[in-house]
Amino acid sequence: MPNFVKIRNKINKFNKSLIIDGDKSLSIRWALLSSQSLEKCRSSNLLFSEDVINTLNCLKKLGVKIKISKNFCEIIGLGLNGFKYKNNLILNAGNSGTLGRLILGLLVHSKNKIRLKGDKSLSKRDFLRVIKPLEKFGAKFKSNYGKLPIEIKGTNYPKTIRYYENKGSAQCKSAVMFAALNTHGETIIKAKKSRDHSELLFNHLKLPIKVIKKKKYDIIKVKGKHKIPALNYKIPSDISSAAFFIVLTALTKNSKLKIKNVNINPSRIGILYILKLMGIKISKINIRNYKGERIADLIIKSSNKIKPINCPSKLNSSAIDEFLLLFLVAARAKGISYFKDLSELNQKESPRLKWGSKILNKIGIKNIVTKSSIKIYGNPNLIIDKKIIIKNFLKDHRVFMTSVIAALSFGGEWQIFDKSSINTSFPSFLKKVDQLGADLD
Ligand code: S3P
Repeated sequence: MPNFVKIRNKINKFNKSLIIDGDKSLSIRWALLSSQSLEKCRSSNLLFSEDVINTLNCLKKLGVKIKISKNFCEIIGLGLNGFKYKNNLILNAGNSGTLGRLILGLLVHSKNKIRLKGDKSLSKRDFLRVIKPLEKFGAKFKSNYGKLPIEIKGTNYPKTIRYYENKGSAQCKSAVMFAALNTHGETIIKAKKSRDHSELLFNHLKLPIKVIKKKKYDIIKVKGKHKIPALNYKIPSDISSAAFFIVLTALTKNSKLKIKNVNINPSRIGILYILKLMGIKISKINIRNYKGERIADLIIKSSNKIKPINCPSKLNSSAIDEFLLLFLVAARAKGISYFKDLSELNQKESPRLKWGSKILNKIGIKNIVTKSSIKIYGNPNLIIDKKIIIKNFLKDHRVFMTSVIAALSFGGEWQIFDKSSINTSFPSFLKKVDQLGADLD
């Protein structure tokens, strides 16, 4: 089977309902936290994507018992500092920054040396951002100038720390929170706003955590050495995966889509605010709370008039995985859009600010990109009638899926490589595209 898709036609108008795969951030956190409990922990609707399967495989190598049947997963953890493994164990985080960074937090108390490796994309990403705070707990690291492969040797007596997370990275914040679980005493984190799933899970588990919300940052206080009770969880759908279909609907004339059971955690729905500012109608119905998270069904309608945006940077962290898609919406806007303070985008699975600009160049949309911003000269009448090939993007799942959405929205003759990259975060992506009636080879 070739590892590319060919798309020759725009999608026709649709009026449908979809259910999207489970949330990746919550799936990985559920598995890692369950491994620290001594109770039986069950999840349903866990995302069985490569990032999550790599998480389960790492935990198995650390001695954790895991059973999977159909849509369920059961973990009987080993308790705090309970991992059982031999010296020089090798763990493979594959493509996942979340797994790679968060698991290091759980290893600050590990007795034996562990090597952490990852795929080509992950090996280009910055790990110094977690090594630095985790060293303060007392763990020792050897790394390739802050990149994978990394060797970690934990300490018998992890210390509590004070840490300022200034990038707006939930992965850094969570790695430190996970490490704090293993300390006697209180760790205090001052963190720029970012997704707060770890805080909500700690709260739900009644772990000693205090979160003080300030305007631009949060103060998070975590006390360690508290037993972790059973964590049973029904994973809601991932807004970052739903985003592909939200944008496809917005850009496809006379279309309407309902997406059920989406996690609309306020720290994740920057895309909804930004699209609203751009004139796109999205309503949330059936809103309910689930174990601290908020879930809703979303109804999206296509828009004939898309407004350009000077995107407020305060929305950046809550839309961090959705910017490639937002750039496509800006391509269709009547006027110039501007997105700034986005240097973190180049720290993702591929340098995404650069890739956003490359895709826009390929579809003939003028844009000016810097290391941290992009100006996009939209064209409401954009129609593509040429051949476009997308390849060599470090198999970044979001570059692949965004390109598919661009092809279906704007037309042209596309060949998009690395189809298998969808397995990282959204294995059923192409099936959903099919369900909406798209014509793919
Ligand atoms: C994630 C945090 C974000 C996001 C990633 C998932 C998480 O990364 O881009 O896809 O689950 O904590 P950063 O923390 O590096 O911003």
